[in-house]
Amino acid sequence: MRTLLIAGNWKLNPTTAEAAALLADGVKQGLGSATDVHVALAPPFVFLTKVDQVLEGSPIGLAAQDLYWENNGAFTGEVSGPMLVDVGCTHVIIGHSERRHGQGETSGQVNAKLKAALAAKLIPIVCIGETKDERLAEKTEEVLLEQLVGSLAGLSPEEMAGVVLAYEPVWAIGTGLTASPEQAQAVHAFIRNWLTQTFGAATAGRVVVQYGGSVKPDNAAELLGQPDIDGALVGGAALKAGDFLGIIKAGQDVMARGK
Ligand code: 13P
Repeated sequence: MRTLLIAGNWKLNPTTAEAAALLADGVKQGLGSATDVHVALAPPFVFLTKVDQVLEGSPIGLAAQDLYWENNGAFTGEVSGPMLVDVGCTHVIIGHSERRHGQGETSGQVNAKLKAALAAKLIPIVCIGETKDERLAEKTEEVLLEQLVGSLAGLSPEEMAGVVLAYEPVWAIGTGLTASPEQAQAVHAFIRNWLTQTFGAATAGRVVVQYGGSVKPDNAAELLGQPDIDGALVGGAALKAGDFLGIIKAGQDVMARGK
C-alpha cells in the first residue's frame, strides 16, 4: 500500500518571504494534522527557512527544488544536501524538466544529485518526462527509458524504494493540457514494469510515482484514482492554497475509498 504524495512545486514564486509564509500557512491551516496523504511544499531556496518556521507542528514536508552533488567547496551559486537538511528540508526535487531542458541538465547529473540527496537522507523526487515532439514521434518509452536508466543508475533496491519518481510530460506542464487519466496510467504502468524488471516486484511495489502536468482540483480525483498514480507534483495550482487543498482533498477521498 503506497500513501499518496501531493507536492507543490512553487518554481520561481512568489516574490517575497511574506507571500511565501502566507501561502504555506494557508496550506498548513487547511490540512491540519491529517496524515492520510503525504504533503510537501517546495518553495525557492531563499524562502526555505521562513516556510520551515511556518510549517512547524504540521505534518507537511519541506522540499527544495534542486541540489548540487558536492557537499562543500568552490561551486558558486550551488546548494548542497547537508545545507538543505540544516534548514529543515525533508525532500528535494531533482531533474525537473525545466532544469533538464532549460539548464541542459543530463541524466548523469541527475544521478549524481540523486546519490547526494540519498547520502544526505533527503527524500528525492526524480522527474522524468517526454516533450511533445518526442510523444508525437512515438518515442515516449525510449526517452523515459534513457531517463530512468541514466538517472537511477547504481541504486540498490533498498535505495530505490525510498526514491519518489514524478512523471511529468513536458507538453502538459503549465499548458492546461493534462494527460488523460488513461494516457498517464499507461505510462505509469510502463514505469512500474521497468522498476519490477530492474529492482524486483517488492521494490517496484513500494516506489511512489507521482504525475505532474496541469493537475487541478477538478482533474485530480480521476488521475489519483489510477492504480499506478501515487500522487501529484503540482505547479500552478500549488500557488493558491485553496486550489492546492482541493487537490489534497481529492487524494484523501481516493485513499479513503481504499486505493
Ligand atoms: P503545472 O502544474 O503548472 O503544469 O506544473 C507542473 C510541474 O512542472 C510541477 O513540477
